[in-house]
Amino acid sequence: MSFYSKGWFDFSYDLQKYNFDIVITEFFNRYAEKNNLDKIDSLGELHLLGLQGVSQENLRQIMFEAFRSKTFQSLYKSFGKEIIDRYFDKYAYLQKTPTARVQFPHSESTSFHTDAWYGHGVNVKSFWVPLVNVGIGSTLSIVKSKSLSIKLIKKITKEKLDLEQINNLAGEASSPFIGNLGDVLTFDSETLHGAKKSLWDSSRVSFDFRISPDNNLGSKPKSNFFLYSELSKKEKDYNQSSTLNEKTTNLLGISYSNNNFNVTSKAQLMLCNSYAKDSNIPIVGNEAEIDALDHMPVLRNLITNSFNNSNCILVFGIEIFKSKSQAIEILKLSEKNNTTIIFCAQGIHFTSLDESSEIMQFI
Ligand SMILES: [Fe+2]
Repeated sequence: MSFYSKGWFDFSYDLQKYNFDIVITEFFNRYAEKNNLDKIDSLGELHLLGLQGVSQENLRQIMFEAFRSKTFQSLYKSFGKEIIDRYFDKYAYLQKTPTARVQFPHSESTSFHTDAWYGHGVNVKSFWVPLVNVGIGSTLSIVKSKSLSIKLIKKITKEKLDLEQINNLAGEASSPFIGNLGDVLTFDSETLHGAKKSLWDSSRVSFDFRISPDNNLGSKPKSNFFLYSELSKKEKDYNQSSTLNEKTTNLLGISYSNNNFNVTSKAQLMLCNSYAKDSNIPIVGNEAEIDALDHMPVLRNLITNSFNNSNCILVFGIEIFKSKSQAIEILKLSEKNNTTIIFCAQGIHFTSLDESSEIMQFI
């Protein structure tokens, strides 16, 4: 893609149409109101909520809740579609939920890295959307050219540089991105980037997401991405005044654990329950498999008899299956009974046998 000849470029978007900063600020202010905290005027003031006892990580999690709201999702999908229409084609995939970033004044941030190092496919492009103005002292820095990035990556790999050495090397070779609210920095998955310590008195808040031109998504599951055709669908019950606890799914889940592999039941249920919480899926019960019986009678029963009106079973991961044939049997049963199975460790939501190849590759 010629746009990425130097490994990155930037562009602007219509702030009136895509008022992400206002939507997110309102979301934080609803949180503040609910918890008797002082409201903020803009996201640059987010550290003021921090001074009232809300940690940087809590704030990031609140942002993720905002991202899953129908209001944000609707804006975001149309934003993603516009970008795909401009720079990609209809075979592109858009990451479903962007990643939130919050950097308090004078705090440290992300080490230099490439997104490919974190499992993104080689053709995947990242989009960094600051929700405040950014510049020298509080921004993302990016290595100036693609060729330089590739050269540095070779050196890092060959000389087995430690994190501090990587930061120094990439930091020296990079330039800070200077931009206003309404600007986007996009770069390819092999371009080194990172953020240095903030020198500003305001918070830096941004989100980022990825678009893949094809189905080479690296180690990321397809279920984390929207197909282009899904971007035009209107959100059901679209509602401007979304609430903090707005439901994004119609699923009602049961957490299921199984002692046939080497992860404790407690750890399995912790993952299932936190995955459910993160995905706004209410949990109406949890069940453990009978260890002595290999044919999974408890799981089969949950699939065929909707327990407490559940329509979804959250399991640790594909590790619960001992063989491909066992997996196929269970998946067929679940398709027949319209029961969703969520494999939390892989982030795969199984609803139909069309998706079974994604699962089989792990067994
Ligand atoms: Fe990154």
